[in-house]
Amino acid sequence: MTTLTQTKPKKRIRLRPQLGGRDAEQKKGQEVASTPAKPEADHSGQGLGPADEDVVLRVEHLSKSFGDVRVLDDVSFELRRGEFFTLLGSSGCGKTTTLRIISGLEAPDSGAVYVNGEDVTALPPNKRELNTVFQSYALFPSMNVYQNVAYGLKIRHVAKGQIEREVKRALELVRLSDYGDRKPSELSGGQRQRAAIARAIVLKPNVLLLDEPLGALDLKLRKQMQLELKRMQREIGITFVYVTHDQEEALSMSDRIGVLRNGRFEQVGTPEEVYQAPQTEYVADFIGDTNLLEAKVVADEGAGLYRVRFPHGEAGARALEGTSFSPGDSVVVSVRPEHIRYTQQVVDEKNTAFQGEVRSSQFLGSYYKAVIELDGGKRLHANNSLVEQNLNAGTRVWVSWPGHDAVIVGGAR
Ligand SMILES: Nc1ncnc2c1ncn2[C@@H]1O[C@H](COP(=O)(O)OP(=O)(O)OP(=O)(O)O)[C@@H](O)[C@H]1O
Ligand SMILES: [Mg+2]
Repeated sequence: MTTLTQTKPKKRIRLRPQLGGRDAEQKKGQEVASTPAKPEADHSGQGLGPADEDVVLRVEHLSKSFGDVRVLDDVSFELRRGEFFTLLGSSGCGKTTTLRIISGLEAPDSGAVYVNGEDVTALPPNKRELNTVFQSYALFPSMNVYQNVAYGLKIRHVAKGQIEREVKRALELVRLSDYGDRKPSELSGGQRQRAAIARAIVLKPNVLLLDEPLGALDLKLRKQMQLELKRMQREIGITFVYVTHDQEEALSMSDRIGVLRNGRFEQVGTPEEVYQAPQTEYVADFIGDTNLLEAKVVADEGAGLYRVRFPHGEAGARALEGTSFSPGDSVVVSVRPEHIRYTQQVVDEKNTAFQGEVRSSQFLGSYYKAVIELDGGKRLHANNSLVEQNLNAGTRVWVSWPGHDAVIVGGAR
């Protein structure tokens, strides 16, 4: 039976353990997520491989349980200097726990953390050259912004003149140069957040860990701060490990994203990779909107393209690299709303999978956002950017998509 679902609300969908043809050895989450530039790291977990100047943070096989509950299960990744890496996942998936272990506030049950090639797993937080900005950013309330930012340098006995220069620079970076005299209580939420970031970056940590730093801000300020944070990160070249459960934020800011689910990586990749080539049904569903459709493979057309059959029609779909299918296999196909075409006439006979009726169509400036009820009752979400083609509720339509834009993300449920 064909099942259509949309991403929200986020659901937990059980994937079959393996896709047809997937290399059985390549267990998700157990490989070290290498930086694209330096793929030949030592993945053995037996220690660091050849010294790699470019790798600033390396997390190896972290596992952690609280009581009987395993909250991290073999998490590994490594970050290039200056990289913006985001840990993305729903509430409770282990994001904060990962950051706390990296920062030294929590000890892992097993696994190791390396900073600049040095094993810091047994070191206390203040010996790690890392800095953390937590969601509840605690500024000292009795100190003004300048004093808050200067504090870390002061206790490191940095010379007064240098402290002045460094604090001035940090406040410029966060655009708070005129706010040095203000107390935290005299700042807006966004300004307080920026003061907290200045306080962290002034210490020039190798890596800055940020745990949902924009979580408390309203949407407008949040968008603005996303741009500011990204700008700052580029300007100062610090490596960021950024935690969020907001997929849009992750897609727009990150160099790479690690999608965590139940303490394991589902996929690590660039925003384009996780969006356009989700390796699992969960990732397809979690990252952005998508339509998930059950289908049967009818033919292998070569070069990773397949014909797949739905109850009322056939269409093309592409397999991800490293996966292959055979005629008769049950699969789940992901089609993004922006790839769905719905038209009154058949425009692409080869890829027309369904017939249905427009249920609603909402004008959103540059496109229409529509819900289409397919014959059989399932609903499909589609974005129509061809403004002249607005089709109102009640219009009968054919549904198709360019075959290579649909992705086979898993075996059927
Ligand atoms: N000190 C602790 N004792 C017991 N359980 C804990 C502890 N810290 C975290 N957990 C549990 O571990 C799991 C992962 O927690 P974690 O804080 O890492 O999640 P998260 O991904 O940061 O979630 P959120 O998005 O809600 O902040 C949760 O189920 C949480 O309840
Ligand atoms: Mg958290």
